[in-house]
Amino acid sequence: MMQLLQDSTRYIQDKTGGFAPEFGIILGTGLGALVNEIEVKHSLSYADIPSFPVSTVESHSGKLIFGQLAGRNVVVMQGRFHYYEGYTMDEVVFPVRVMKLLGVKKLIVSNAAGGLNPRFNTSDLMVITDHINLQPSNPLIGKNLDELGPRFPDMSEVYDEGMIRQAMIIAEEADFDLSEGVYASVPGPMLETKAEYHYLSVIGADAVGMSTVPEVIAARHMGMPVFALSVITDMCTPDRIKKVVLAEILEAAAIAEPRMTMLIRELIRQQ
Ligand code: HPA
Repeated sequence: MMQLLQDSTRYIQDKTGGFAPEFGIILGTGLGALVNEIEVKHSLSYADIPSFPVSTVESHSGKLIFGQLAGRNVVVMQGRFHYYEGYTMDEVVFPVRVMKLLGVKKLIVSNAAGGLNPRFNTSDLMVITDHINLQPSNPLIGKNLDELGPRFPDMSEVYDEGMIRQAMIIAEEADFDLSEGVYASVPGPMLETKAEYHYLSVIGADAVGMSTVPEVIAARHMGMPVFALSVITDMCTPDRIKKVVLAEILEAAAIAEPRMTMLIRELIRQQ
């Protein structure tokens, strides 16, 4: 595994002239427009990077983008890998591990999620303060990669409290509502039944989605501070459940996108 990670890293360093990103950003479903804010220096297709998995979901474009945001060096994954696509957990988190080897110091993640907290509304933003992993595996199963991190990494404070506080202040100053909550990660690809949504709210989740937690676990294993944000694309409380349509999820994400982009940009500016 370390050999594969190093092969990818070397290729990327070669193609980008040794570009050194400080921040890694992973963009979720319908949330790729942040890239328009980036002064792009290099763009590499996943398909061209040795050992890199290749994206299959149509709403993701599958590129690693290097450039500047708020004057800071960033690498952005436009399109991520989901467990439901058939990738192994090692493949799902491969790019995050490569980010670390490229020198990334902090990880910022976004996703589209279903809202379980009755106070939420469609197109709200929720800062993830904690998570519940309900995916059937995780990227740390198997022989530990001692070069990357410890066998039993701590998960008592997964999401960086300093960045959470900064995000809350940025939202307050920009005068938009920013919620905080717990994200439950399920395997998908089917959406949840009514009974499953009820179960998720009973066990303490405020939002549910099919991504993020594997990448976050890998990042924390390597000691990277993480900030993560959910865009609530559909409400899943008993009175508001309706049939989920991908087009509606993308529409709800598009409405939230400018707020999310501004929040990430300003957060990076403050680091
Ligand atoms: N469930 C799981 N994943 C999701 C949802 C949902 O309701 N909405 C967007 N991603």
